[in-house]
Amino acid sequence: MDPYITDWLNLIIRFIHVVTGIAWIGASFYFIWLDNHLENPPEWKKEKGIKGDLWAIHGGGFYEVAKYELAPPVLPDILHWFKWEAYSTWISGFFLLALMYYVGAETYLIDPRVANISQAQAIGIGLGAIFGSWIIYDLLCRSPLAKSSLFLGLVLLISVGLLAFGLSQVFSPRGAYMHVGAVIGTIMAGNVFRVIIPSQKALVAAVEAGGRPDPAWAAKAKLVSTHNTYLTLPVIFIMISSHYPMTYNHEFAWAILIAIILITALARQYFVLRHKNNHQPFLMAGVIVATLILAYVIAPSRDKAEATSPVSFDPSLSVETIIKQRCATCHSATPTDEVFRIAPSGVILDTPDDIERWAAQIIARTVVNKDMPMINKTDMTDEERLYLNEKLGK
Ligand code: HEC
Repeated sequence: MDPYITDWLNLIIRFIHVVTGIAWIGASFYFIWLDNHLENPPEWKKEKGIKGDLWAIHGGGFYEVAKYELAPPVLPDILHWFKWEAYSTWISGFFLLALMYYVGAETYLIDPRVANISQAQAIGIGLGAIFGSWIIYDLLCRSPLAKSSLFLGLVLLISVGLLAFGLSQVFSPRGAYMHVGAVIGTIMAGNVFRVIIPSQKALVAAVEAGGRPDPAWAAKAKLVSTHNTYLTLPVIFIMISSHYPMTYNHEFAWAILIAIILITALARQYFVLRHKNNHQPFLMAGVIVATLILAYVIAPSRDKAEATSPVSFDPSLSVETIIKQRCATCHSATPTDEVFRIAPSGVILDTPDDIERWAAQIIARTVVNKDMPMINKTDMTDEERLYLNEKLGK
């Protein structure tokens, strides 16, 4: 496909994905906030079956929201459901993943330094991981393990670590991260589709029939919506992770992912408790300290590169020729790469001035993180990396 057309498709699908994702996560945050802020209603409302009451002001108007103990005696004419936010986020996310990582597998997903797999194999592994993980998750939630939500949570966390580790053995580092994100997003949307919406339908059907809904549905819905609450922030991190090679490109990328899931879940917990007027500042302090520790622990050391620098470099090496050969096929005003016809991220490295301006980022991506050239498409050698470090890195 013409790269210009792919770029536009990418832009449009990503735009839809971000907008629907905001709608989904926004609604989800709002309802958790709402649930946790409900107050004891006055007697006359309790008699109507209302158990929680809330007043809010927004956009120049007063709102009064009431939550029923179980269900209203009669259903209203118009009942709003929240499901298309989730479905459209998943569908657009799936198309975006397919466009970037499957159509563009050779650029983004397959890294010959990790594993020399074909495009078909890569797609097979990717789809297998996404749908396979969802089935395993579903089985775990129905298993006796689900009786202890803490234990189940621990099993799920370990599974995510294993998945990230396994995928990092076959995919490019960022492809592996993005697939973990796709797995989590699929589980979350699957929870809406397979559990939350069916349980709401059962509730509505029971009210229509004048009976009481099966409490087992409510329990299942509660379990998976708790999972969704704590998975929201990790999945947002993975969505933006491709900007941060210090995470996905690290030797222990899978462990970093687990750490970030724990940190973001802790941050979510802080807000969930705060909604209930339970202020636990030490939780937020824990988030900050853990983030600092993580940043410190994964900090790349440039000393290592320097220590192994050869005493003398091949005299034919020069910064300009290295950049021209290894980088400017993409990072140029007139790229020659068949996929990147416009300089990626606007980084143009055609002249010595350009190189000087971008020196710090060049070192960051070629020496420190070593994720450029992209999947080492232009076969940059280790000696060239050390040479750049020597000449530009000071
Ligand atoms: C095959 C194409 C390709 C080659 C070759 C390539 N890059 Fe990149 N580069 C990309 C893409 C795509 C991005 C944007 C995505 C990303 O940040 O991972 C990028 C992003 C960057 C960025 C980040 C810009 C920013 O601030 O967001 C830097 C710096 C960079 N490249 C430097 C280099 C250097 C230095 C080389 C040569 C050693 C190089 N690249 C070779 C494709 C390439």
